[in-house]
Amino acid sequence: MKLLICGGAGFIGSTFVRQRLLEHGDQVTVLDKLTYAGREENFHDIADNPAFRFVRGAIEDSQAVATAIEMASPEAIVNFAAETHVDRSIAEPDAFVSTHALGTYVLLEAARAHSLRYVQVSTDEVYGSIEEGTFTEESPLAPSSPYSATKAGADLLVQSYFHTFGLEALICRGSNNYGPYQYPEKLIPLMILNALHGDPLPVYGDGMQVRNWIHATDFAAAIGHVLEHGIPGEVYNAGGPDEEPNMTVVTRIIEHTGASESQIEHVTDRPGHDRRYSLSSQKVRDLGWTPQTRFDNGLEQTVSWYRENTWWWEPIRTGDYRAYYERQYGRALS
Ligand code: NAD
Ligand code: DAU
Repeated sequence: MKLLICGGAGFIGSTFVRQRLLEHGDQVTVLDKLTYAGREENFHDIADNPAFRFVRGAIEDSQAVATAIEMASPEAIVNFAAETHVDRSIAEPDAFVSTHALGTYVLLEAARAHSLRYVQVSTDEVYGSIEEGTFTEESPLAPSSPYSATKAGADLLVQSYFHTFGLEALICRGSNNYGPYQYPEKLIPLMILNALHGDPLPVYGDGMQVRNWIHATDFAAAIGHVLEHGIPGEVYNAGGPDEEPNMTVVTRIIEHTGASESQIEHVTDRPGHDRRYSLSSQKVRDLGWTPQTRFDNGLEQTVSWYRENTWWWEPIRTGDYRAYYERQYGRALS
């Protein structure tokens, strides 16, 4: 296929780009604004592939989107582009509104003008928190943060383009991803790098919040299944095979890195913190998808990747991230 992949320079987007180029033989054009989370370094192993092209631009910029479509002549748009960190959405929600609302609108208009298939990458956070049981695609939307509320708004807009204009639009909602190339503001890479550096491990509240972990290669494969086999107008949930409380995740990272339990520090909880996420993935499993990576193995491999790829994270950990960390955690990194 010829694909336009928006937000393809980020963590999951670049994993998807790699999969489509190397495992499916697709022609891929990436449109990405390169925010703090988007990095051309994520294309280090595919930048020279003749089937790959990169265009720097924002999805809310209709001219940039038109240029990318002209270059790519795509059959489909897959949209990963987003602001993705809940804590940043609490501190500074502006970009969440413009990228998720306006950006998604601009892409939908472009898809409509060119009659393209459209896949919106979304999140389990649009359903809110669930104490017991599991969310299905029929569960009501009840987002709790500016991040998840603006993602839910984008999902509703996508569905309206299917209902009103007959756009071939689909949505794939994932649970918490982990794996190589994840920006270290998120729990797992933050804890790995702090553990390796002897920095405190900041656990929000009691640390008993539960997340449904999925390896990014599994989520990327689920999105590929939805792209190829999904029914237009439908939503597909892709949840990982394992659920773990944050304290268990941190304890395993301590074991894999040889850090000390004394590095754990319980800090002020996130406002409006969702207690538990859990997704049923039966519908995407019915399309032929199954997750391949269990959390224990995936986490160990992820710790090894961060240990071995200092070239990837050193420029982040010595750059603007330090100021972000100080604002968020009220202390400097070592
Ligand atoms: P990320 O933060 O690593 O990457 C986001 C990418 O989008 C970056 O390359 C960034 O430069 C780009 N971007 C941001 N705003 C843009 C704009 N206005 N125009 C063009 N590009 C822009 O994010 P991620 O973790 O890879 O998440 C990708 C998608 O998957 C998001 O839509 C997110 O909501 C969704 N998702 C993430 C997770 C997770 O656990 N990380 C789980 C489920 C769903
Ligand atoms: O569920 C899917 C979502 O998962 C995605 O849509 C989001 O883009 C992604 O950021 C992620 O959201 P979370 O808020 O669950 O992920 P985060 O890594 O920020 O936090 C995971 C859990 O760890 C959460 O309960 C908060 C806690 N936490 C996080 C950080 C950064 C801590 O206890 N300490 C921390 O320093």
